[in-house]
Amino acid sequence: MEKREELYAGKAKSVFTTDDPDYLVLHFRDDTSAFDGKKKEQLARKGQVNNRFNAFIMEKLKAAGVPTHFERLLNDREALVKKLDMIPVECVVRNISAGSLCRRLGVEEGLTLTPSTFELFLKNDAQGDPMINESLAETFGWATPEQLAQMKTLTYQVNDVLKQLFLDGGMLLVDYKLEFGVFKGEIVLGDEFSPDGCRLWDSETREKMDKDRFRQGLGGVIEAYEEVGRRLGIEFD
Ligand code: C5P
Repeated sequence: MEKREELYAGKAKSVFTTDDPDYLVLHFRDDTSAFDGKKKEQLARKGQVNNRFNAFIMEKLKAAGVPTHFERLLNDREALVKKLDMIPVECVVRNISAGSLCRRLGVEEGLTLTPSTFELFLKNDAQGDPMINESLAETFGWATPEQLAQMKTLTYQVNDVLKQLFLDGGMLLVDYKLEFGVFKGEIVLGDEFSPDGCRLWDSETREKMDKDRFRQGLGGVIEAYEEVGRRLGIEFD
């Protein structure tokens, strides 16, 4: 497998083509952004930490029967993935209230949500990733009802696996965002799973151990990501 040209540069990752049209290289950079790119910083080691973290989580999900695009780690900052036709819809599950849910509904942070909520957002930077629903996704052709149903089932399946995994490491999985795509007709989990795209709290102290440390200027961002990894048994070199 040979890495070829850059296909796309996102806010935290770059994507490269390979000599195989079915595979891409994901390159994890140190760039960190929040508030639709209004707050930006380079956080040393973030690329390596998230690449390792993502590989660990994707392997756990695969072992639990969730189809993912992840193939293998290539080096410190890069992973080989299947090339998906991405569905421009973000799936968010929340176990505890935080973030945009609190702002939108005026509810306090930290409420246990029973049952866990499921929300859809359109992946569209220019519009600030607005919240959407199944009807809008179908009408505008972003995803079919069948695809949405599968995405919902898989997103909740991920919750079952990861809630327990993090709990075993003394952490609460507050919420997370997943993205899916289509590979040879099958719905497959794409993008990444790292503390950039989920909320994790210490289960005793409820200390924040995710990107909210960056968003809220709490400091110790990468140290917290590494601590999450350490609790899961991930080796960072
Ligand atoms: O901002 P909000 O509370 O809706 O975010 C819910 C979860 O989805 C958080 O874990 C956040 O990090 C993640 N998210 C993301 N990328 C987005 C929007 C939300 O990773 N574009």
